[in-house]
Amino acid sequence: MGPFATATSILDTGCGVAQVLGSLLGTYGVTLPVETRLVAADLSPGMISVVDARREDEISAGNSIWNRVETAVWDAQNLAAAGVPDKTFSHITAGLVLFMVERPRDVLLETHRVLCDGGLFGMTSFRSAQWMDLIEEALNAIKPGSNLPPVPAAWASTESIMRQLEDAGFQDVTAEQVKTYYEFEDPEAMTRFNVANIPSVKMVTADFSADEIEKAIQWMLKWLDERFPSGKGKLEGIAIIATGRK
Ligand SMILES: C[S@@+](CC[C@H](N)C(=O)[O-])C[C@H]1O[C@@H](n2cnc3c(N)ncnc32)[C@H](O)[C@@H]1O
Repeated sequence: MGPFATATSILDTGCGVAQVLGSLLGTYGVTLPVETRLVAADLSPGMISVVDARREDEISAGNSIWNRVETAVWDAQNLAAAGVPDKTFSHITAGLVLFMVERPRDVLLETHRVLCDGGLFGMTSFRSAQWMDLIEEALNAIKPGSNLPPVPAAWASTESIMRQLEDAGFQDVTAEQVKTYYEFEDPEAMTRFNVANIPSVKMVTADFSADEIEKAIQWMLKWLDERFPSGKGKLEGIAIIATGRK
C-alpha cells in the first residue's frame, strides 16, 4: 500500500483538532475512493468535540467529504479497549503524539496491530522549536528553575525514532528532519494562545500567580518586538517525519 489516493481506511490517531486528517483531505480528498473509511480519534473528548464542530462547518461550506469523517474518543495506547480489530486500517497517522504519551511503545504496537498487512504508518515529532525555547526563557526569567519538559530523547532524533519503529515491528522505516515555521501576524495573540494552550506550559505555570504569568507574557512580547518590529514574523522548529510499513 502506498499513496493516500489508494487508501481504503485512514485513522488519524491522537488527531487533536484533526490537523493531519484535515490536511490529507485537502490534498487527497477528491482522489480518495468513495468507500474509504476516515476516522479521527483522540483521547480527549474536548478535542473530538472540536473536530465534530469542524465537520459541521466543513459540510456547511460544501466540503462534502467531511460527511464521511467518523470521530472517536480512543486511547492510542489501547485501541483494543475500544474494540478496534486487528488489520482494520490501510493508513494510520500520528502527528505529534508519540512524545507526549505515557506508553509510546504501546501506541506503536497497537498501531501495528490494527494496520492491514502492508499498511502504512506516518508520524511526526519535534527535535526542537524556537517558540518553546522562548517560552522557557521567559518563564525562567520570571521564576528561575521553571524548565519545560524536553521532548524525550527517544523521539527527538531520526536515528532513535527509526529504532523505536523497527523494534515495534515496522519495516522499510524512514525518518527525516524538516524545518518548520510558526508564522504569526499578532505576537500578543500568539503568545497568549501558547501560554493558555500548550499542555507542558500549562503544567509548569500551574503554580504561577496571574501576575507572574502576565510578566512572562510581557517578557516574550518584548523579545518578539525586538526581533520582529513590524509585528509579523516566524519562529523556527525542526520537525521529524517518520514512516513505516507493516
Ligand atoms: C500536540 S497534539 C497533536 C495534534 C495533531 N495530531 C497534530 O499533529 O497537530 C497531541 C494530541 O494527542 C492527544 N493524546 C494524548 N495522549 C493520547 C492518547 N493516549 N491517545 C490518543 N490521543 C492522545 C492529545 O489529546 C492531543 O490532542
